[in-house]
Amino acid sequence: SDCFTFDPGFTSTASCESQLTYIDGDQGVLLHRGYSIEELSEKSSFMEVSYLLLNGELPSKQELDDFSYTISRHTMLHEQLSTFYRGFRRDAHPMAIMCGVVGALSAFYHDSTDISDPVQRKIASHRLIAKMPTIAAMAYKYSVGQPFIYPDNKLSYTGNFLRMTFGVPAEEYEVIPAVEQALDRIFILHADHEQNASTSTVRLAGSSGANPFACIAAGIACLWGPAHGGANEAALNMLREIGTPDRIPHYIARAKDKNDPFRLMGFGHRVYKNYDPRATVMQKTVREVLAALKVNDPIFEVAMQLEEMALNDPYFIEKKLFPNVDFYSGIILSAIGFPTTMFTVLFALARTVGWVAQWNEMISDPGQKIGRPRQLYTGPAARPYVSVDKR
Ligand code: CMC
Repeated sequence: SDCFTFDPGFTSTASCESQLTYIDGDQGVLLHRGYSIEELSEKSSFMEVSYLLLNGELPSKQELDDFSYTISRHTMLHEQLSTFYRGFRRDAHPMAIMCGVVGALSAFYHDSTDISDPVQRKIASHRLIAKMPTIAAMAYKYSVGQPFIYPDNKLSYTGNFLRMTFGVPAEEYEVIPAVEQALDRIFILHADHEQNASTSTVRLAGSSGANPFACIAAGIACLWGPAHGGANEAALNMLREIGTPDRIPHYIARAKDKNDPFRLMGFGHRVYKNYDPRATVMQKTVREVLAALKVNDPIFEVAMQLEEMALNDPYFIEKKLFPNVDFYSGIILSAIGFPTTMFTVLFALARTVGWVAQWNEMISDPGQKIGRPRQLYTGPAARPYVSVDKR
């Protein structure tokens, strides 16, 4: 029974069977339930992709309307949660607030913590997807000292989020269609990505029978790290620090230096050894958004030149390091008006759909067991206790 393989970082261990997402890292292919990310991001909507991930098939018009309506019915938060926010410091990182508030949901929605009941699991899933925009927008509002804005269910999922984030009671907020479309696309690009660190965290937490709100809070905590979802914030901060194209070679040299811990943020991926297909869509979307908003961000030029220089450098070629989803997203989010600290929050908002779909898939799997990795013990062999006066 003590026969197992040693695989630190799980580079070659499949932890589950899944029907949700397929990645071919060598070819740079990403499919959700068989549909390519290129087609979904171009032709679909975040609500539709959410339905697809949760249910396995694209919805009919009626099914999509019903699903969107159901989600809209859950957008409000328990009013008492607003006092929970007020316990945080104003300068708290919004991801710290997200970990706390999402974890606290299980204290407010007891009824949907019974994971043995598929109906309750569905309600919990809808609640999580519906409430994330409200929770994320409130984290932002709290940080800038503006009043919380309640959801407006006449708006789309993404339009509603924009209004809750940037609207103020004193003025009518108008959703700019190009912004709404771009953000919806960014949500699609982040919806799921098979067994990445945060999704594996959600599955591992869920494998013990923990309630879904606690599991998603665990996923959010994992996503925050700069090697994972925190990379979008780190990538834009890096681009701003580079500032002008003439400084790029210095940063490339640093990234290649074995004695310097610096890495190009938004570059490299465990699975993609080719261009991340999400980065391709993202780069195209940057152009569209900057044009629509008439923003001229010199950082975009820095990003493109950095990419070109890295892709022609033997170090990056040999190690197969390409831009990933986090490389260009920050430029769009910044043009829309989000501070960098909100970038990973937006990633969490969108990835909640994938987490929830993966969690449901796991709970419904009859072969599901508690996740329990083994280890190679490298500590001392058994030895007798020595009393403190003899040490
Ligand atoms: N800049 C410079 N060198 C790099 C980079 C980079 N961004 N990424 C990997 N390398 C090197 C690394 O030093 C290592 O070299 P060597 O073999 O000589 O030791 C080699 O490439 C392989 O890297 P690794 O760290 O062993 O690969 P991994 O699969 O464990 O890590 C990664 C993948 C994404 C954590 C890593 O590429 C990285 O740290 N990238 C920067 C952070 C980032 O952009 N993360 C976002 C990931 S995509 C979406 C998401 O999850 O948010």
